[in-house]
Amino acid sequence: MPKAFSILIPTYNERDNIAPLLERIAAALPDIDYEVLFVDDNSHDGTAELINSLSNHYPTRVIVRKDKRGLATAVTDGFSWVDSDTILVMDADMQHPPEIIPSLIQAIQDGADIAVASRYVKGGGTSGWSTIRKIISGGAIMLSHILLPHSRHVKDPMSGFFAFRRSVIGGVKLSPIGYKILLEMLVVGKADKVSEVPFMFCLRQKGESKLNVSQEGEYLRHLFSLMRRSGEITRFLKFLLVGASGTVVNLGLLWLLHDQNTLGWDIRIALLIAIEMSVFTNFLLNNYFTFRDRRQSGAGAFIKNCLRYNFFSIPAGLLNWVTTVVLTDKSNGPYIILNLIGIAVAMVWNFVANSLWTWNKK
Ligand code: GDD
Ligand code: MN
Repeated sequence: MPKAFSILIPTYNERDNIAPLLERIAAALPDIDYEVLFVDDNSHDGTAELINSLSNHYPTRVIVRKDKRGLATAVTDGFSWVDSDTILVMDADMQHPPEIIPSLIQAIQDGADIAVASRYVKGGGTSGWSTIRKIISGGAIMLSHILLPHSRHVKDPMSGFFAFRRSVIGGVKLSPIGYKILLEMLVVGKADKVSEVPFMFCLRQKGESKLNVSQEGEYLRHLFSLMRRSGEITRFLKFLLVGASGTVVNLGLLWLLHDQNTLGWDIRIALLIAIEMSVFTNFLLNNYFTFRDRRQSGAGAFIKNCLRYNFFSIPAGLLNWVTTVVLTDKSNGPYIILNLIGIAVAMVWNFVANSLWTWNKK
């Protein structure tokens, strides 16, 4: 008979934490038919032996992996050793208070596919963290919000404390790198509804953290891998391609309207039209190509998004226009080259403004 739910806990040298942890879990879950599966990576402090000796008192067992190491794969391997429909993942060091477990399970029963114990919703937090650790944590979350749209609606996608329905990972290939299993599941798993329950991430009482600097590098590799697997890298390349096509439209139209051998219009007017047309074709291509999957249908949405795109293009367009007009006034270089300089200036501004604007967005 599958249990009501399974608690999965990765361990590496956590001997002193096991007994108090199991005791607190038992106290938090009276009259509930749960099991605790530890996935231990061959700890040399007797963690697995201790768990085995406690299995008469608590509904617990341990799997020891002799040849593998790593938090993420310990957890994903663990998924195949439990058969409940609801699985809860947490750490062994009591930085994840077992008293929160009932709220997480309740959130799943209320319809969530994933319930996250969150440090970043009202009522949650961290205690005893240095400013630098707070900045790193906030920066990591901001990066994932920018680069992975699937993580945007979750305030704490880095939490290692969460419950989920098995259907979220049904038929899905999980290949996390490093620590962030939840992020992996949010991006490649099948979860419609994610809810967050606040909790306080306290300092570790016993044993040592296994997190070190190399984990930051692993996190970046994981982000990149998720961007590739979820199609966000392709999207970015498409965006660059569209930008290049806009440059061609801008230069081509300027030639057609301004060149002495064609229409010969004043450069101020010609350039204004050329820039506006390139903004418009960029919008069209981004709408039907780069962001096709996120395009809203209907004439109203088309007009609204087109105006929005134009609005955000005003500063760059203006910079392009002013730079090119000033340069042609002051020098007699070929106007196509001078306009290319204008476009380059606009692009630099665009890049800086976008990253600043995006960094401010939370
Ligand atoms: N099996 C196994 N193998 N378990 C491991 C390994 C490993 O290689 N490395 C760590 N663990 C276990 C630890 O024994 C502990 O139970 C849990 O994974 C978390 O390890 P910590 O070293 O305590 O991590 P942390 O507190 O720095 O990080 C935690 O909090 C972060 C949020 O700040 C984790 O939950 C992270 O996932 C989370 O992002
Ligand atoms: Mn910890």
